[in-house]
Amino acid sequence: MTKAEKFFRDPRIAEAKKLIFSALSDAQKTITSVEPPSEKNDLVAEFADVRGMPLYFSYIGSGLGNGALVELTDGSCKYDLITGIGVHYFGHSNPGVMDAAIDAALQSTVMQGNLQQNIDSLRLGQLYTKLSGFDHCFFSTSGAMACENSLKIAFQKKHPAARVLAFEHAFAGRTLALSQITDKPGFREGLPPTITVDYLPFFDQKNPVESTRKTLEVLKTHIKRYPKQHAVICMELVQGEGGFWVGSREFFKAIIDVLKSHDIAVWADEVQTFGRTENLFAFQTFDLDGLVDIVTIGKNSPACATLFNQSFAPRPGLLSQTYTASTSAIHAARYMVEYALDHNFFGPSGKIQKLHKLFTEGLAHLHEKYGCIHGPYGIGAMIAFTPFDGSDAKVKEFVQKLFTNGIISFVAGSNPTRVRFLLPVGALVENQIPEIMQILEKTIQECL
Ligand SMILES: Cc1ncc(COP(=O)(O)O)c(C=O)c1O
Repeated sequence: MTKAEKFFRDPRIAEAKKLIFSALSDAQKTITSVEPPSEKNDLVAEFADVRGMPLYFSYIGSGLGNGALVELTDGSCKYDLITGIGVHYFGHSNPGVMDAAIDAALQSTVMQGNLQQNIDSLRLGQLYTKLSGFDHCFFSTSGAMACENSLKIAFQKKHPAARVLAFEHAFAGRTLALSQITDKPGFREGLPPTITVDYLPFFDQKNPVESTRKTLEVLKTHIKRYPKQHAVICMELVQGEGGFWVGSREFFKAIIDVLKSHDIAVWADEVQTFGRTENLFAFQTFDLDGLVDIVTIGKNSPACATLFNQSFAPRPGLLSQTYTASTSAIHAARYMVEYALDHNFFGPSGKIQKLHKLFTEGLAHLHEKYGCIHGPYGIGAMIAFTPFDGSDAKVKEFVQKLFTNGIISFVAGSNPTRVRFLLPVGALVENQIPEIMQILEKTIQECL
């Protein structure tokens, strides 16, 4: 046993934790449902001033929550169904996540990095390689950095091919390179061109055969026009920022067959889908095991990562970072993934599917009653609907009203713009859904 292990097992630490969790439990008993603000504060304006940009919502967290409910500094309590765009899988002030973070705080360093990895990084990397079936796991501090690393690995492997394929309405992050893949002109306005991207139309669930045929035709045209120049395709299996559009195994398989015959690498960007479909990885849900070369994860895994096989291993010098993840991100990621696997989150009758069913039934009911909300769309713990005409302005108004009424959601896609939820699966309980549906109904009535 190392000296550290002896320290972590010191009974005084267990005693201190007992006190902390008893205080937490008392504090959480005061947050049980939605509450309006109790005071007006200037913190949101101060925040906008500091960062030079307004915040999207009047949201500054107080630092306490109870599962799906979060307290803000204005004293309000709200259902957080977007969780920082899919970050807090276990909601707010989850005792298990907090326990993992306390253990992390007891470690020798706040951050881990290229030259200094504690045993926690090793264990999480081993867990991810085992669960994904990939040989290697390289950590990074953001989804975008995991995606940058994926691009670099693919380019090095396929050199001198330097073009990228991606789907229309893709989102891969906002670095200089990724903002060329991310299909939003506004997000690359004023930036110099870096990599060259050729776009393919995404799958249309309403028209599977025709949309697959069309995508294959466009793909073959790009490959013919630029022979041997494409290094990699960036694929979101479910388009996240693009509006929760869901692909299919047949669609991806048909594309991958063409890509493989032209030696083009397949990268599944799972930053948004990780932990949200019927399996831990969406590529497993779409039965694409063995067909994908690189996978990137983030969000639900606060330690973000690029997973790849030995045949894609980069040469020394290509990847390195001072920080690979914070120690608390590593501990929390391991806790959440292991908990989700041990507590029946996945599979056809897992918690993700149960929540999906309850939400989609509730939304379908509202559709029948009011006709002015369309959908539901999405998969697993990614649920969306289109309110009213789906115009940007109307949906933003709806999302802000929903926020005022006690539910935090966010927009996705455009033409139509949808409202989306990235459910905190580890926190949400079934008996909260009726209150959530009531708030949705009230907001619909206010917007009629
Ligand atoms: C599919 C996808 N890739 C990459 C990213 C970038 O991740 P991050 O914001 O952590 O840099 C996101 C973020 O929304 C995403 O949804």
